Amino acid sequence: MELIIADSAGFCFGVNNAVKIVFDLAAETNERIYTLGPIIHNEQVVDKLAEHGVVTIDNPDEAEGPAKVIIRAHGVGPGTIKQLQERGLEVVNASCPYVVKIQKLVSEKYKDGYQIIIIGDKKHPEIIGINGWCDNTAYIIETDEQVNSLPHMEKNICVVAQTTFIREKWEKIIKSLNKRFENVIKFDTICNATDKRQVEAEKISKEVDMMLVIGGLNSSNTNKLYEICRSNCERTYKIQTASDIPPVDIKKFKKIGITAGASTPDWVIKEVIHKMSELDKQDFEMSFADAFESS
Ligand code: F3S
Repeated sequence: MELIIADSAGFCFGVNNAVKIVFDLAAETNERIYTLGPIIHNEQVVDKLAEHGVVTIDNPDEAEGPAKVIIRAHGVGPGTIKQLQERGLEVVNASCPYVVKIQKLVSEKYKDGYQIIIIGDKKHPEIIGINGWCDNTAYIIETDEQVNSLPHMEKNICVVAQTTFIREKWEKIIKSLNKRFENVIKFDTICNATDKRQVEAEKISKEVDMMLVIGGLNSSNTNKLYEICRSNCERTYKIQTASDIPPVDIKKFKKIGITAGASTPDWVIKEVIHKMSELDKQDFEMSFADAFESS
């Protein structure tokens, strides 16, 4: 059995950076540490941090100063930072540098008099945070059809995208915006990490007999990877850890692919690879899946 592991599996640069900041801080200080929202969508990492005394809070009111509060990779608006500081908390900004770049751009263009349009999910924390940098005045849309529901605008328009937005959809929306308005400048702020991961998952899942997608239950990028792989390979399984590997006789397969969402730590991926190699060496008795198939 050959295992094909996606090069892009696991933490992206921004998530890696944020997780490292929290673990380093937990190791070097006895001060109370909070993260505003779970640092990543991964239960194992959040549990591990809790063992080190790091507490996850959902809003600034839950934190008691003096303490440090870590802002996760999605970033927040300036109002939230101010709110935290007013509560006597020290803010440690672990926002992804690519997200910070969008925040700065939006802030500058807003001050220059542009109307900001954000292409993305208005409920996503990254978008809520970016909107804060233009005093929550942005129009937020995520479909081509929504362009028609925008009001008439005299101002120049500046358009940015959620970092995980699908590029094809972005291009379609930009086309419609250009058709409807004359004064549009666009900044393609989609992050390549997501693109690369999806393209690689697509390629691998076309070549293999079975595909494992590792990631948190609530991770939207993992669910997207699962969808892509499942459309190419019927035996695609979404797992959180090595203990979720389904009881199938992997010796029946020539090639098995593995990919993982942006919030899956390396150690979880390594455990899955190790368990798959172990299973390949073992004799296999009738599995659930086989029993089901033969019934
Ligand atoms: Fe940053 Fe891109 Fe990851 S924006 S958090 S490196 S997906």
